Amino acid sequence: MTKDVMILTGAGQIGMAIARRMGYGMKIVIGDKNIKNAEAIADIMNKAGFDSVPVETDLSSRESIKNIIAESQKYGEIAMLVNAAGVSPSQAPIDAILKVDLYGTAVLLEEVGKVIKPGGTGVTISSQSGHRMPALTPEQDRLLATTPTEELLSLEILQPKNIHDTLHAYQMAKRCNVKRVMAEAVKWGERGARVNSISPGIIVTPLAIDEFNGPRGDFYKNMFAKYPAGRPGTADEVANVAELLMRPMGAFITGADFLIDGGATASYFYGPLNPDSK
Ligand SMILES: NC(=O)c1ccc[n+]([C@@H]2O[C@H](COP(=O)([O-])OP(=O)(O)OC[C@H]3O[C@@H](n4cnc5c(N)ncnc54)[C@H](O)[C@@H]3O)[C@@H](O)[C@H]2O)c1
Repeated sequence: MTKDVMILTGAGQIGMAIARRMGYGMKIVIGDKNIKNAEAIADIMNKAGFDSVPVETDLSSRESIKNIIAESQKYGEIAMLVNAAGVSPSQAPIDAILKVDLYGTAVLLEEVGKVIKPGGTGVTISSQSGHRMPALTPEQDRLLATTPTEELLSLEILQPKNIHDTLHAYQMAKRCNVKRVMAEAVKWGERGARVNSISPGIIVTPLAIDEFNGPRGDFYKNMFAKYPAGRPGTADEVANVAELLMRPMGAFITGADFLIDGGATASYFYGPLNPDSK
C-alpha cells in the first residue's frame, strides 16, 4: 500500500514539531546529515504512532537531495516538504552557511518542485535574521530569486570580499530563501502545489538553552525584556504557522514569508531593541 509522503529535512526541534503537527497518516522520510539526529527523531515519532524512516541526507549536495527524493518515492507520492535543516552563524564558517542554507535550500525547493504531488505543500524555515538586514537592490533580489541554482554561489554579492562575517552570510542565505520561495511558488503553482517560508525569531532548542545559560545569558534576558512577547518562542508555535500554510485553509497563500518572532524585529526597527536607542 502506498501512502502520501512527507519529506522532512533537518531533524531538530522545529522540524519535528511541524512533522508531528502535519504528518499523521503519512510516510515521513527524515533526512539529516547527522544520521543519529534523524534516527533519534524517527524513534520518538514512531513510538508516538507516526510512520517515519531516517535517511542520511546532506542538504548541500544535489546528489544527496535526489537520493532522499528517490527513497521517498518508493513509499508513494511526495505531498509535503518541510525543510528545517540548516547551520547557524555560531555553528559553521561562511562557506558552509552559504552552501547549506542558501544553495542547499534552493536545490531542495527546485528538485522537490519537479515532483510534488498536485495539491502538495511545502515550507522552508528561514529566519528573522533575513529581516534585520537592510533591503538589497531590486536587481540583487532578482538575482537571488532567479539565478540558476548551480550559478548561485558564483554571484558577486556572495563572494568572500562582500560577506563580512558568518552572521552576514546567514542573513544573505535567509533572505535568499524568501526570494527563492517566491520564484519557486510560480513553478510549484504550475503543478497545483504551494510553497512558503517561515521566519522564526529565537526558538527554544537545546542549542538556544545552552546560549541562555552560557556567558551571553544576560544579553538574552535583557533582549527578551525589550520586545513585545517578553520571551523566546517554542517550536510548536512555529508549527502553528506551518499548519495554516500547509492545510487547505491556507490555499490562497503561496510564495509568502511569515515572520514569527514575538515582535523582536518590530522592536529592532522601531523600539528599544534598535541599536541606536539608549
Ligand atoms: N532555533 C532558532 O532559534 C531558529 C531561529 C530562526 C531560524 N532557525 C532555523 O530553523 C532551522 C532549524 O533549526 P533548529 O533550531 O531546529 O536547529 P537544529 O540544530 O536543532 O536542527 C537543524 C538540523 O539540521 C541538520 N543539518 C545541518 N546541516 C545539514 C546538512 N548539510 N544537511 C542536512 N541536515 C543538516 C543538523 O544536523 C540538525 O539536526 C534552521 O534553518 C535554522 O536556521 C532557527
